[in-house]
Amino acid sequence: MNKEANLAALAADLRARLNRAAHQYYTLDAPEIPDAEYDRLFQELQALEAAHPELATPDSPTRRVGGAILDGLQPVRHVVPMLSIRTETDTTPKGAEVFDQRVRDYLASEQRRTQLKPTDERYRAEPLGPEAQAILAGAPVAYVAEPKFDGLAINLRYEDGVLVQAATRGDGETGEDVTQNIRTVRQIPLRLNGKAPPVLEVRGEVYMRRDDFEALNERMRQKMAAGDKAARTFVNPRNTAAGAVRQLDPALTAERPLSFFAYGLGEVTPPAQGGPDFASHWQVLQAMKSWGFPVSALARRAQGASDLIAFHADIAGQRDGLPFDIDGVVYKVDSLALQRELGFVTREPRWAVAHKYPAQEQLTTVQAIDVQVGRTGKLTPVAKLAPVFVGGVTVTNATLHNELEARRKDVRVGDTVIVRRAGDVIPEVVAVLPDKRQAGAPEFTMPAHCPVCGSDVVREEGEADHRCTGGLFCAAQRKQALLHFASRKALDIEGLGEKLVDQLVDGNVVKTLPDLYRMGFVSLAALDRMAEKSAQNLLDALEKSKQTTLARFLYALGIRHVGESTAKDLARHFGQLDAVLDASTDQLLQVPDVGPVVAESIHTFFQQPHNREVVEQLRAVGVHWPEGEPAPAALLVLAGKTFVLTGTLPTLSRDDAKAMLEAAGAKVAGSVSKKTSYVVAGEEAGSKLDKARELGVPVIDEGGMRALLGGEG
Ligand code: IVH
Repeated sequence: MNKEANLAALAADLRARLNRAAHQYYTLDAPEIPDAEYDRLFQELQALEAAHPELATPDSPTRRVGGAILDGLQPVRHVVPMLSIRTETDTTPKGAEVFDQRVRDYLASEQRRTQLKPTDERYRAEPLGPEAQAILAGAPVAYVAEPKFDGLAINLRYEDGVLVQAATRGDGETGEDVTQNIRTVRQIPLRLNGKAPPVLEVRGEVYMRRDDFEALNERMRQKMAAGDKAARTFVNPRNTAAGAVRQLDPALTAERPLSFFAYGLGEVTPPAQGGPDFASHWQVLQAMKSWGFPVSALARRAQGASDLIAFHADIAGQRDGLPFDIDGVVYKVDSLALQRELGFVTREPRWAVAHKYPAQEQLTTVQAIDVQVGRTGKLTPVAKLAPVFVGGVTVTNATLHNELEARRKDVRVGDTVIVRRAGDVIPEVVAVLPDKRQAGAPEFTMPAHCPVCGSDVVREEGEADHRCTGGLFCAAQRKQALLHFASRKALDIEGLGEKLVDQLVDGNVVKTLPDLYRMGFVSLAALDRMAEKSAQNLLDALEKSKQTTLARFLYALGIRHVGESTAKDLARHFGQLDAVLDASTDQLLQVPDVGPVVAESIHTFFQQPHNREVVEQLRAVGVHWPEGEPAPAALLVLAGKTFVLTGTLPTLSRDDAKAMLEAAGAKVAGSVSKKTSYVVAGEEAGSKLDKARELGVPVIDEGGMRALLGGEG
């Protein structure tokens, strides 16, 4: 072979390996090569194509990053029109029965036409096929039922197995050329797997997954908070996907994570000319899968209306948990011969129907904008809505996140808004209908004083959130502080839940944390819905919680930026509470992982006389812990080391091993990375062990761990 042929073969090999890897990763969700290897191959191909432009082909994965900016989208005439389907708006199971009956009735009417005199203009010469005959004799109609994906319909044209054109549906006759943009969709093969017909058009839906949509909006919110004037949040996955596909700058499309499901065919080389010969829609779905397209795993074959009804109910039950939006299901007659006999009315096939679900977006009005206060004093504007049934629940509240977001969406009291609830995502106001605004409706502004306690509200430099400065003086913050204090990783007071805390704070029974320990049986039993037994249980739990550890106590105080792990570090480093109370910022900075922001927060907290008072009173009512010797981390044997535990150790429980390591100054992490110092593996160690071996992290057993701890055991 000459040099050119060698290079061409190398490029073809790289393309094939990359395309295969992309299919494994994006469509089958089963990656076969590490990301780094993919990147390496990709760069090799990019370099090769840059040096030898004649080697670049339309199916090269290097084309997925987006090409030149377009002036406009060019029209594309569809060889086979892209039809729409009739929608059954009856969202009850009856929708399926109506469709099944219509199919049967039509076949019967066609059958009657064969029985007319040939002179009758309605006469049909061709007899119906055996499937239609069986149905007329009472057999159930065989269907395929699929989800109705909520995105944008696309026609993908492959010639000799290579993607040559992608077009939107448009009016069904003429769409728009969006080839460059569609190439950026990783789930769409640039070259078909296996034997491909000379011409193949695959149709399906481009959509955006819910998690991709949420992550995209989160990125946008961060950009907005950072002052990016061009940034905005998106309304819903469907509009975002549709907008991305019709972008003029393919590089922008490449930044929008799009996905694809195939559900049908357009023009295909006929069997007589070497094209595939399909008998059923189900076969078409299987073939599309084998060519490399994502086909929904939810698609089912169904017999008769009863199966369709069951499918409709089954998917309705799964709808909230699906990773993407659907607005209904689609039923299709499975046999392609029957589909031909059924034909079309106007532009809709008689053999398919969309059966809808209740909408996930609805219009409603904003009755008020309340401001809620969280544990750390964060103020959150919440739109109070006229109750509306959306996404399967009645929604009356929707968070507006913060002032910036509320202003960006410009939500005002009295506005008509679009509310969306899809999946487990919390309901959101996605947009305002400006035409319906009442004249003079004022813009939303954050209050200058806390709506709960009246303290000043501040917004710190560079932060999007407003905060109440009231601290524990603020009832809203007090409630959250009590719940945090009682939580499992803090003082672990069983039975002190939200409802009870509301009663205790609203009834002024508990004003500060130590008040918890001053409650008597009588005052407790007098509370609403509090049985004598529960009152006694709570008192017992409170008594039990008094014996704790310094780390838990520090965590329980709810100091900003002091989580469980920092509290442990503080307890270990200082050993005694008084040393923490009096530590300067510099001394606090000596603690591992404590940076300036955290040190400042701890220092300020303990400088506040009322916080010190709370600490003293808690000690006075009997909260106690074993005070230890200060153990500055730097002096501990395992300081600075990170361990990961996996599998079952012979004599130690996971918690005990963790406690021993932490007492020696080590950190115990949940997953293995290059920074892990040791993996301690026991019986039935799983993927963490594999990962350690892959990264070359030392693996030890319990004995090895004890040896590191100083030879005990
Ligand atoms: S089949 C002739 N199957 O719904 C049948 N369509 O009007 C052509 N859609 O424009 C469509 N999921 O964008 C089919 N599983 C599915 C679908 C589906 C979503 C969309 C498609 C079409 C519209 C129906």
